[in-house]
Amino acid sequence: MPLLTTREMLRAAQADGYAVGAFNVENLEMAQAVVEAAQALRAPVIVQTTSSTLRYAPPEAFAGIVRALAEAADVPVALHLDHGDSAQLAERCLRAGYTSVMIDGSALPFDGNVALTRQVVDLAQGMPVEAELGKVGGKEDDVEANAAYTEPEEAERFVRLTGVSSFAPAIGTAHGVYKAEPKLDLARLEAIRAAVDVPLALHGTSGVPEDAVRACIARGICKVNYATDLRAAFTAAVRAYLAAHGAAFDPKGYLSAGRDAVRARVAELIGVCGSAGRA
Ligand code: 13P
Repeated sequence: MPLLTTREMLRAAQADGYAVGAFNVENLEMAQAVVEAAQALRAPVIVQTTSSTLRYAPPEAFAGIVRALAEAADVPVALHLDHGDSAQLAERCLRAGYTSVMIDGSALPFDGNVALTRQVVDLAQGMPVEAELGKVGGKEDDVEANAAYTEPEEAERFVRLTGVSSFAPAIGTAHGVYKAEPKLDLARLEAIRAAVDVPLALHGTSGVPEDAVRACIARGICKVNYATDLRAAFTAAVRAYLAAHGAAFDPKGYLSAGRDAVRARVAELIGVCGSAGRA
């Protein structure tokens, strides 16, 4: 089917108390793996690319790939810009066929974040826009950040002033690899959920224990982002394939190994999200 926007998908998840998995992809094979896993489990799914991924290959290329994969599937697939670093990039992605964008002004002071996010909501002309307030810690795309928790009253004001369609609060997760088990502030999440009515996105989910992810979903998270986990699965499988096939030279061999590993991991994570059988 054609690419869907994240709006319908996330509203359905919010209404029924599950989350849609949002999986970061870096290439054709990872995009195939995500859509294949979603198809096999009859799950709605979000394929997403960060700003740095779009410096590696342009949005038009990812839009072409993911649109073709979605059209060959019969489960809902959305294509989302994750951590958009400028209004220009968000606009270019939407023009290329992305069906959702995030603008990340979380490093700016509150008013600057509101102004940038508002600009993207305006240029998106009704397409869904996600934004972040407070800082999810760790290495976010290629920017290092210290965690700063989102205040519920600020979240309410931010969502009201910007008109965003989904919101990423900082509740103690971090992007990248955790050095110690993350401490999630579930009471804060509940307070944010009570303060805003738009769907909430969890960032930095790789390495968060499954029970903690489920606890967040039970408290109103309905989009769960995974990036590091899939990059690691892909790379480990490619490394193992090349170690076992020292004379291999056809990329289709080792890239298939990476694709198989990501498909298997995405299937497990769809299970954590509770989105299997929802499409
Ligand atoms: P992880 O790399 O920790 O899974 O974070 C993913 C994410 O939030 C992308 O925006």
